[in-house]
Amino acid sequence: MKNVKTFFIKTYGCQMNELDTDVMAGMLKNRGLFQVADENDADLLIFNTCSIRDLAERKAMGKIGRLGRMKNRDAVIGVTGCMANAKKESLFNKLPHIDFVLGTNNIHDLNNVLDDVLATKTQINRTDGRFEHEIDYLGASREDKVKAHVSIIRGCDKFCTYCVVPYTRGPEVSRSPQSILEEVKQLTQNGYKEITLLGQNVNSYGKDTPETNCLFHDLLYQLDKIPGLERIRFMTSHPIDISTELMTAVRDLPSLCEFVHFPLQSGSARILRKMHRMYNPEQYMEKVLQFKEIHPAVVLGTDIIVGFPTETDEEFEMTFNAVKEIRYGVGFFFAYSPRKGTPAIRWQDDISEEVKQVRLQRLSKLQDEISKEQRSDMLDTTVEVLVEKISIKEDHMLKGRTRCWKNVIFPGTPDLIGTLQRVRIHSYSHQTLIGKIVN
Ligand code: SAH
Ligand code: SF4
Ligand code: F3S
Repeated sequence: MKNVKTFFIKTYGCQMNELDTDVMAGMLKNRGLFQVADENDADLLIFNTCSIRDLAERKAMGKIGRLGRMKNRDAVIGVTGCMANAKKESLFNKLPHIDFVLGTNNIHDLNNVLDDVLATKTQINRTDGRFEHEIDYLGASREDKVKAHVSIIRGCDKFCTYCVVPYTRGPEVSRSPQSILEEVKQLTQNGYKEITLLGQNVNSYGKDTPETNCLFHDLLYQLDKIPGLERIRFMTSHPIDISTELMTAVRDLPSLCEFVHFPLQSGSARILRKMHRMYNPEQYMEKVLQFKEIHPAVVLGTDIIVGFPTETDEEFEMTFNAVKEIRYGVGFFFAYSPRKGTPAIRWQDDISEEVKQVRLQRLSKLQDEISKEQRSDMLDTTVEVLVEKISIKEDHMLKGRTRCWKNVIFPGTPDLIGTLQRVRIHSYSHQTLIGKIVN
């Protein structure tokens, strides 16, 4: 094992993993290591993995396995993230060449584990079930200079029957309001214009810490006062916890974007019950209507799982019709993937891959049509865009997003990156609105 000077982190999975990667990169840079863009140049390789579906795990396992077969590599290899918690030390059997397994609740310990690996040359596994140690979010090394992710609550107590997250991330643990406010103030002082508050279920924020007397909407009111912070987003939410106070906050707080992830998962009452989602389609629709009544401009996003065990064609049609009726701004559709350790594993995965794919394609096509209509409705309107970067596809064009998460491209110069612009929409392409800055 050689002296470790450089590192490379490959991230799989969701925004929480991306943020954990930034935190780990910050810790390693603090220690004097350099981050490299090519994995072949790295003395330390970290795979920050995801377990949400089988494919996510297989991708990481395949990649790490291939490294093991390359005999000339003597890099230190670590596996972090949700697969580390899901598989723990059993990973050493499948991937004998890896040096450490560090769970989602042990990130604070990265440098100690690295020291121990280098000193003892033994394999180390640290995978706690609960998040108990503060991590240095202020030291996170962020690539994006305009938008930042900010963790407010880790873990999940909901136990949807298909989902590994409560097992890989442990119970809900809220971060203190002071520490969140301090981080967001610092980010805005450093020029960040938009923050996305992260948690598996941000709406549960503060319920585990009654002593702070600060629930999710209370936190939002405090954040909204921070000067220079233009946009607040949050993800993800569980419909059961979307409160009237939250809906009112979306209406009343200027910085809080009117785009809310409101994952339905299924339109069938029986399947929702089997998923342990704790709402039925009527209760869900009631909340959607209440939200639209409180704030007519709100745009909702969703996640849907198709092919949950025993889902019939009729039950899938209920999901399809709900998506058609609600007209989401964004939909993420997934084929059910059985996960070890979850309650749903005891039901046979009886919907064939073909049927799952047909259901997925029908939903994607429907959402494409809805999104196209929404883009068409925006022709000749003027929208507020946060300029994020130079468009990679079109020359001399900038790319940004509206408050409701729509992609917009328009002509402009790079000095506008990080500013808010008013853009008049004159056309659109498959995924993107096209416009021109107006004064
Ligand atoms: N906390 C978030 C979910 C994070 S996982 C929430 O409750 O919205 C993101 C999405 O992955 C879930 O919303 C669900 O649609 C999907 N998902 C989770 N487990 C899955 C599984 N076993 N098979 C297929 N999709 C799954
Ligand atoms: Fe998983 Fe459900 Fe928790 Fe979301 S709310 S992370 S789907 S258990
Ligand atoms: Fe994957 Fe873990 Fe996120 S399972 S989706 S990385 S919380």
